[in-house]
Amino acid sequence: MRYILLLGPPGSGKGTQVELLKKEGFKVLITGDILRNEIEKNSLLGERIKRIVNKGELVPDDLIVELMETIIKEDTSSDKDIIIDGYPRTVGQVEGFLKNHSDEKIIAVYLKVDKDILKKRLTGRRVCPVCKRVYHIEYNPPKNDMKCDVCNEPLIIRKDDEPEVIENRLSVYDKQTQPIVELFENKGLLRVIDAQRTISEIFTDIKEILM
Ligand code: AP5
Repeated sequence: MRYILLLGPPGSGKGTQVELLKKEGFKVLITGDILRNEIEKNSLLGERIKRIVNKGELVPDDLIVELMETIIKEDTSSDKDIIIDGYPRTVGQVEGFLKNHSDEKIIAVYLKVDKDILKKRLTGRRVCPVCKRVYHIEYNPPKNDMKCDVCNEPLIIRKDDEPEVIENRLSVYDKQTQPIVELFENKGLLRVIDAQRTISEIFTDIKEILM
């Protein structure tokens, strides 16, 4: 089995691609959704995570590594590849991840997008509060009336897609996550995808890497 790590700044399209891969039967783990589910539980941990996520900061490494490694362990019962969106995303998390998976093959897939495009994608994003499906008011609109194509629920704006939080997330990404792209490149594990093209072109490239 292999670990496919989807890397890229906020708005690069990781969630969109992972959703398509899931539909095709790939096994996926979506870190942002795992954290948002924890927030919805209203637990003490969820409250702590909510304060961090809503400001656009990163949840501490020790907490994320423990949470994600527990989930990964539960998921390695078969030989199927696991695609992970959003973990690891700091140098400390990469160290934690590599310590636990030194024997498995790892491919880091980096979705590369310019900053001005990221901002347009994030400010126009809408999500279904029920099934979490992701839309864009211009690039990927729902079929009717800003309601989810699957659940018919009115779409909402993610709390961390407010303009000032977007700015902070992009700057946190530059400082804390971009260095891991170089780290994977130096290890010869990185594949770069031009993610400024259409959703289906990017999807084709990712599937080619997974072959
Ligand atoms: P998370 O949910 O993972 O957020 P993110 O990494 O900031 O990424 P996004 O979900 O914003 O963007 P995306 O790349 O998935 O883009 P999408 O496909 O939606 O994490 C949220 C928060 O949780 C973090 O800020 C942090 O606080 C915390 N967290 C998560 N992981 C953590 C970790 N490991 N450690 C610590 N904290 C962690 O696309 C965006 C928009 O563009 C959509 O509207 C979509 O329709 C559109 N779009 C997508 N592709 C295209 C395309 N090719 N062309 C045109 N439009 C497109």
